Amino acid sequence: MALHVFFLIVTTAIVATTISATDHIVGANKGWNPGINYTIWSNNQTFYIGDFISFRYQKTQHNVLQVDKVGYNNCTIEGALRNWSSGKDFILLDKSKRYYFICGIGGCSNGMKVSVLVHPLSPPPRSDAVSAVHSSEKSDAPVTFHGNFGSILVFVGLSYVCFRI
Ligand SMILES: *[C@@H]1O[C@H](CO)[C@@H](O)[C@H](O)[C@H]1NC(C)=O
Ligand SMILES: *[C@@H]1O[C@H](CO)[C@@H](O)[C@H](O)[C@H]1NC(C)=O
Ligand SMILES: *[C@@H]1O[C@H](CO)[C@@H](O)[C@H](O)[C@H]1NC(C)=O
Ligand SMILES: *[C@@H]1O[C@H](CO)[C@@H](O)[C@H](O)[C@H]1NC(C)=O
Repeated sequence: MALHVFFLIVTTAIVATTISATDHIVGANKGWNPGINYTIWSNNQTFYIGDFISFRYQKTQHNVLQVDKVGYNNCTIEGALRNWSSGKDFILLDKSKRYYFICGIGGCSNGMKVSVLVHPLSPPPRSDAVSAVHSSEKSDAPVTFHGNFGSILVFVGLSYVCFRI
């Protein structure tokens, strides 16, 4: 019995501390579209290594190119580093640096450009209570993956079943 409890606690702690990524939805509910100032959007977010940035748009009308500073400032696509066009692109921010993204099909000159600075240190795991406070403070607060809680339940359930038998 003591082993069950120990295993439950350890498993729950490991899962809770290792999974803590935020998905920053570009433009929040406005998505990736012309006529939006994404500098204001990105200034309202804090990005950490391991977070995702995601772009949602009509894939027949727009796309996403990762460019360098010159491409961002001048809306030029030569030397684009990577590109996406699914209409719902999740991009892992795996380095601490400034990333630049633009639309490569004409939208850039209408404001479809965003630059984000990714910070090295991940914040301590956010509890549901802390997330709720952030959500009420910021109308466009980033979405924290709710997979966290589901994973914890699965792990707890599995470990309980394993050790009962
Ligand atoms: C977007 O907002 C930023 C910050 O307020 C401002 O400096 C910038 O000029 C704006 N860009 C456009 C294209 O309006
Ligand atoms: C824009 O492109 C020109 C060359 O076409 C270059 O000289 C200039 O430095 C670029 N601007 C920025 C801000 O990088
Ligand atoms: C997108 O990337 C692929 C290779 O990853 C490349 O072949 C293609 O030319 C790129 N498209 C644009 C628009 O940059
Ligand atoms: C930025 O955040 C502030 C509060 O922190 C909020 O009042 C404002 O509406 C937000 N603006 C955008 C464009 O997300």
